[in-house]
Amino acid sequence: MNSSFSDIGRIRQRAIYVAGVGGKLPAVPVAQAELEKAAQAAMSPEAWAYVAGGAGRESTIDANCAAFERWRIVPRVLRDVEQRDLSVVLFGKKLPTPLLLAPIGVAEMAHADADLAVARAAAQWGVPHIFSNQASVPMEQVAAAMGDAPRWFQLYWSRSNEVVASFVKRAEACGCSAIVLTLDTAMLGWRPRDLDLGSLPFLQGQGIAQYTSDPVFMREALAAGVDPTAPKPPLNFQTLGTALAQKANFPGGLAKNLASAAPRAAVQRFIATYSRPNITWDDLKFLRQHTKLPIVLKGILHAADAKLALEHGIDGLIVSNHGGRQIDGEIASLDALPGVVDAVAGKIPVLFDSGVRGGVDVFKALAFGATAVCLGRPYVYGLAIAGEAGVREVIGNVLAEFDLTMGLAGCASVRGISQGALYRQS
Ligand code: GLV
Repeated sequence: MNSSFSDIGRIRQRAIYVAGVGGKLPAVPVAQAELEKAAQAAMSPEAWAYVAGGAGRESTIDANCAAFERWRIVPRVLRDVEQRDLSVVLFGKKLPTPLLLAPIGVAEMAHADADLAVARAAAQWGVPHIFSNQASVPMEQVAAAMGDAPRWFQLYWSRSNEVVASFVKRAEACGCSAIVLTLDTAMLGWRPRDLDLGSLPFLQGQGIAQYTSDPVFMREALAAGVDPTAPKPPLNFQTLGTALAQKANFPGGLAKNLASAAPRAAVQRFIATYSRPNITWDDLKFLRQHTKLPIVLKGILHAADAKLALEHGIDGLIVSNHGGRQIDGEIASLDALPGVVDAVAGKIPVLFDSGVRGGVDVFKALAFGATAVCLGRPYVYGLAIAGEAGVREVIGNVLAEFDLTMGLAGCASVRGISQGALYRQS
């Protein structure tokens, strides 16, 4: 599937319309609003809140999408767009398309196959999957399901540098080709949807598989043990359910862990150490010492930070506001992109995420100078609706729309996409 994407738009259109002649409709809705509706119906209220929700009044989620709407595409005509080249080069490697899958945690809330389903679908398209630090399946198992397909690893900087080093070593060993250090989640944002449900998946032992599979983290967790002074939830059936969930989600499963304190110790240790808000630019040296892989900083929105990243020898950036999940009232990611692109002046690649819902958005971000674009929530919606096939369909639809948009705008290749193709609507 990933050998050539030229004409993917028409190929997908044809397949869908031909199936429609026989009364067969897409199992995963193509239209964004329908995709969201179907995903919400497939998910628990807690899962929907966690995936779809954002910080505060969610004005940043809205701003991310509104920023895309402000820019309209001005097509050029009478240019030969019969053959279209969707490929890009990133860190010296040719990718078939400019799309990557953004790291998204706790995929098990959307579907039991979780990260394995996402990885298999990404691998079929040759679209790099950025493994989440908060994955539901350990990176080694996910990598094993992908063959040689490209994968990166997202890192949250733990309070334990030994855990950081261990994660990075594991990522290298399982074939990841870049480390994406996410910088915008030093603390979890204020998320009213989750707060109103009193729901944080990590407390159920969900989304911490990279930790519970890590020998260094588990050694530290067991040494720390269960904290007798930790705040106690009310004693009732729901609390008992959470204790059982922690055991069930811990390696080995419920029966094996019934009498074990390790699941609770792991959750407590995770909560106490998952991020270190006092990291500074100086700490990046530690990461550099521990990996030869390209280091990509995610969550860069200010031109001054982009320049500092260059000074610190960083290999790439991702302009992102974490899908509007961290700061309400934050600058739209697309509005921050041109400033960051100008600041790095082509010295390192600038990737983009936040607000990307379809292929048109990919086109616009590339027009502003992004080298590649990460897709987020839509693939989780596909996962919730139909597992691996759902992710595969969503990726295919985004690529098809991107291909058609590129060609219809008069661009035969990604290189041909420039800001000249955009008009700012007043
Ligand atoms: C974690 O990365 C989150 O956004 O919940």
